[in-house]
Amino acid sequence: MLRIGDVLDAASVIPVLEVPNIDVVEPLANALARGGLRVVELTLRTDCALEALSRMKDCAPELIVGIGTVRTALDIERSRAAGADFLVSPGTSKALMAAMQGAKMPALPGVATASEAMTLFEAGFTALKLFPAETSGGIAHLKALNAALSDILFCPTGGINADKAVDYLALPNVACVGGSWIATKAMIEDGDWVTIEENAKIAASIKS
Ligand code: 3PG
Repeated sequence: MLRIGDVLDAASVIPVLEVPNIDVVEPLANALARGGLRVVELTLRTDCALEALSRMKDCAPELIVGIGTVRTALDIERSRAAGADFLVSPGTSKALMAAMQGAKMPALPGVATASEAMTLFEAGFTALKLFPAETSGGIAHLKALNAALSDILFCPTGGINADKAVDYLALPNVACVGGSWIATKAMIEDGDWVTIEENAKIAASIKS
């Protein structure tokens, strides 16, 4: 099984995907992989998300595929059963923290504050999703967190684009960034694989 360090080593930018139907999975995975990205997050925001995960693992076995928008222990069990490589949550309730600890899968639990980050770090999570990154303070927030909590790594997500990603990834406590800008819902629905591949190329060229 992968560790969270393996996921972070493979990715500077993680596209956050909302998949509307199964038919888009193969061309979407191919466009992202051709663009040079190796890690993706499929969100549990559409009914076909878990089926999409299985399909993506079949058609693009080189991709590391996580499940995002995880909120419950049941979400974790269903994600594991479908073959998820890692878990991502927008925030972390006590129950979800316990379920993530029990799952022993790589995870980026969501936090927005120093207290939440400290709670998750004490529970054994060394890398956390900072969500929503831009509205919870963005770059300045991460600099302040680094001054006090320099041993905690973040994957800021929410409101980030290619230009902002460069600035985030220059911070010492940012391991990767996530975002939907690489493959937006509209691009996926329109089958705009050319733009997605181009965005993936730009994203893959940004290094932490
Ligand atoms: C997420 O779930 O991580 C966010 O919806 C992604 O945020 P973005 O759409 O602003 O990139």
